[in-house]
Amino acid sequence: KATVEMLRRMPKAELHLHIEGTLEPELALRLARRNGVTLPWKDLGTLRQQYEFSNLQSFLDLYYQLMGVLRTADDFRDLMLDYLDRAAADGVRHAEIFFDPQVHMANGISLDTVMDGLIEGLRIGGERHGITGSLIVCIVRDMPVDSAEALLDRIALRVGDLVGIGLDSAEVGYPPSLFTKVFARARRMGLRVVAHAGEEGPADYVGEALDLLRAERIDHGCRAIDDETLVGRLVKARVPLTMCPLSNLRLNVVDDLRDLPIRRYLDAGVVVTVNSDDPAYFGGYIGDNYQALYDIGYTLEDLARCARASITGSFASETRQRALL
Ligand code: ADE
Ligand code: ZN
Repeated sequence: KATVEMLRRMPKAELHLHIEGTLEPELALRLARRNGVTLPWKDLGTLRQQYEFSNLQSFLDLYYQLMGVLRTADDFRDLMLDYLDRAAADGVRHAEIFFDPQVHMANGISLDTVMDGLIEGLRIGGERHGITGSLIVCIVRDMPVDSAEALLDRIALRVGDLVGIGLDSAEVGYPPSLFTKVFARARRMGLRVVAHAGEEGPADYVGEALDLLRAERIDHGCRAIDDETLVGRLVKARVPLTMCPLSNLRLNVVDDLRDLPIRRYLDAGVVVTVNSDDPAYFGGYIGDNYQALYDIGYTLEDLARCARASITGSFASETRQRALL
């Protein structure tokens, strides 16, 4: 238990967190009732039975369906506040938070409703916990490229409320190269760039994310280990990987946490961070992810290195980073 406390007290940033992935089943049912949204699962027991996933897609199916209960700015504010309360309890001092507006817009919710709610949540959570946060808009890669371009038209009016752009959703068959122009435009708008790559997709997609999207961080990056040259490149360019152990376990990216290449990455000098991805779906928030690595033999020194990397690998200002370290 002393160790739990030491892990918790390490100042850390969370760099890979989908706000929609913090929607706990209880809150989903409550919002469904509040908003008159019909779900196929009538009670918590039946809903909870849906959380057994075989791969990324089987998770995404549930994740996108439950997103339908999020309708108002208050819903997004409450979701953000619940997350920040939990994150602060795990020692998170700064969070860079993904959201998927294309899906909300397809549900008839405006970008402003989504962003106004999330930003209000960040403001209240910031006052409550001293935690800082910023938003990273994600491109849903299995939706048409036109829809990504249409999102950028909207984003143009609110770039000041965003720190970056990311790429998420079903990976295999949707290589980063599809979005070269979208990301070039986003960069011209002043957005920082990250991308999910090498979660289920091959090491080549990590290379594409670096070369074509100019990604400054790689989300997951598990499969980069298959390409030694690529690993060397991640080390040399100090490109952080935002790894999510419990997510990878639950989505069968690996059969066992010990099969994740984190040890090999650390030994090679890769910048590794530890994150929760979609904690309401994968059985643990960021503290649980640190704990799971500790339990299989990662040392406090290893994990302190990851925590430190999360701060220096964040998009927070130099001043804020110094204050956090
Ligand atoms: N969207 C939410 N979580 C995701 C993940 N782990 N991979 C890809 N897209 C996602
Ligand atoms: Zn993710």
